Amino acid sequence: MTAATDLIDSNLFPELRKDLLSWFHKNKRDLPFRINKNAYRIWVSEIMLQQTRVNAMLPIYEAFLRRFPEPKALQEAGEEEVMKYWKGLGYYSRARNLKKGAELIVEKHRGSFPQNYEEALSIPGVGSYTAAAVLSIAYGKRHAVLDGNVKRVLSRLFLITSDPGLSSTNQFLANLAQEFLTSESPGDHNEAMMELGALVCVPAPNCTACPLEKRCAARIAGKEKEIPAPKSVENWIDLDLNFLYLKSEEELLLVKDPKRRFFKTIYSLPFRLEGKHPYESDEWIEELFEDDRIVTNAIHARHSITNHKIRLKFSELETKNRKKVEAVLRKRKDVEFKWVRESELKEEFPSSISGKLSKLRNKNKKHPELPVGKS
Ligand code: ADE
Repeated sequence: MTAATDLIDSNLFPELRKDLLSWFHKNKRDLPFRINKNAYRIWVSEIMLQQTRVNAMLPIYEAFLRRFPEPKALQEAGEEEVMKYWKGLGYYSRARNLKKGAELIVEKHRGSFPQNYEEALSIPGVGSYTAAAVLSIAYGKRHAVLDGNVKRVLSRLFLITSDPGLSSTNQFLANLAQEFLTSESPGDHNEAMMELGALVCVPAPNCTACPLEKRCAARIAGKEKEIPAPKSVENWIDLDLNFLYLKSEEELLLVKDPKRRFFKTIYSLPFRLEGKHPYESDEWIEELFEDDRIVTNAIHARHSITNHKIRLKFSELETKNRKKVEAVLRKRKDVEFKWVRESELKEEFPSSISGKLSKLRNKNKKHPELPVGKS
């Protein structure tokens, strides 16, 4: 594989790192997870920050750590109580993983977050980003983080013009991040990159406040606003996703199927892929949509997931025969399902799509203009 430094002048690295770090020490936000380098506290903060902005997560973070100050407290707590402290953050599977992770840490790692990268990755919910963040910040290990902010900073600094939607671009950026990382204080370096991306090198960049402005290749070329390049639209697939609000006894059906194209790892409203698309349809989904009392609403909203341009639709069906629905689902061993209250939809179906659908549906209730009858 090509090393990033075969294509980029690594002689610039030492000066860039030095300016980056001194900017960070002067300008970093005073955040509670920066007070000491406790791996558990950093792990919790990184998981919370994956879904929420810093200001919104801080009060929840502080209350969470007051109640669960170390892995043992989280391991011993009941799941319901952990969920109560997670309220406001959504994505409850992350809280469940944190608790499972705390159990593993207590049982296998004598109560401390592991220092070894592979062991860190074996903790539920910990992927390459979280492992790199915790190990570098808490233990000074040389693993580079690569989140959206870091990708933007690197792309501008080194004028990376390739399509950010390609996995080859991602791999190149991962190699570059690792090579650019200093071995002296990798935690500070990682946090400085994230902080620069969060405060200065934002999508509409504030270059005059940037410590790297004079050496930023995109700025020098006058291209800082064009980089990162928008994802290529050439290979986009148009798709209709028709979501089914299947209601029974005041509850909505949610399903999870590891084999489907979207939402493999979370529960969602059942959905059918419609229009011209390259994917196979699921028999059980077709069966759910077969009921002739279904009302499909032709109101559309747009959404995109990776290289898909998606039009959202939704259908509604009230059923008294829950057992029949469950029988359809039970035919497929790998499909999981549950019934939830409608008010919990956003938390139980943790995607921005659930918010969009609720909005569409409320709008449609006020102006029921376009029901098109049977799907
Ligand atoms: N985003 C996620 N973790 C962060 C951190 N430690 N510093 C700055 N931004 C972040």
